[in-house]
Amino acid sequence: MLKFCGRVALFGVVMGVAGVLMPVSAQTVDVAAAEKLLEDSKCGKCHSVDKAKDGPAYKKTAAKYKGKTDGEAKLFTHLTTGPTVEIDGVKEEHTKIKSKDEAAIKNVARFILSR
Ligand code: HEC
Repeated sequence: MLKFCGRVALFGVVMGVAGVLMPVSAQTVDVAAAEKLLEDSKCGKCHSVDKAKDGPAYKKTAAKYKGKTDGEAKLFTHLTTGPTVEIDGVKEEHTKIKSKDEAAIKNVARFILSR
């Protein structure tokens, strides 16, 4: 029994440490993976990191959500639901990201927000 309690306690400590470290690692950006998914999704046709094209530069979007806590969620919705956008007065459905992997899409959102 004592041995068992010891294991449970150790497990608690390990999980506690993981709990402290997790939010930090969850915020990191896999730049290569984000750039690849942006390329596969042809986002570069209308966006670049620092130049406005048909769509705003990622830096501009990062500035827009700076200091806000809902940027990642907002971009996730923007990239997965195909909202209506207007380009030169013509309304069209915004391109959806070519992935169904939530983690990969959130990584792209964090990539954009960290430009
Ligand atoms: C055909 C052109 C076009 C393509 C392709 C395109 N976008 Fe956009 N995007 C736009 C336009 C136009 C807006 C501006 C919408 C507005 O401000 O109302 C926009 C807005 C955005 C925003 C800002 C959203 C916000 O909440 O401010 C992000 C981020 C974005 N696009 C990312 C992407 C990504 C990632 C892809 C690839 C999956 C992509 N876009 C593909 C035209 C495009």
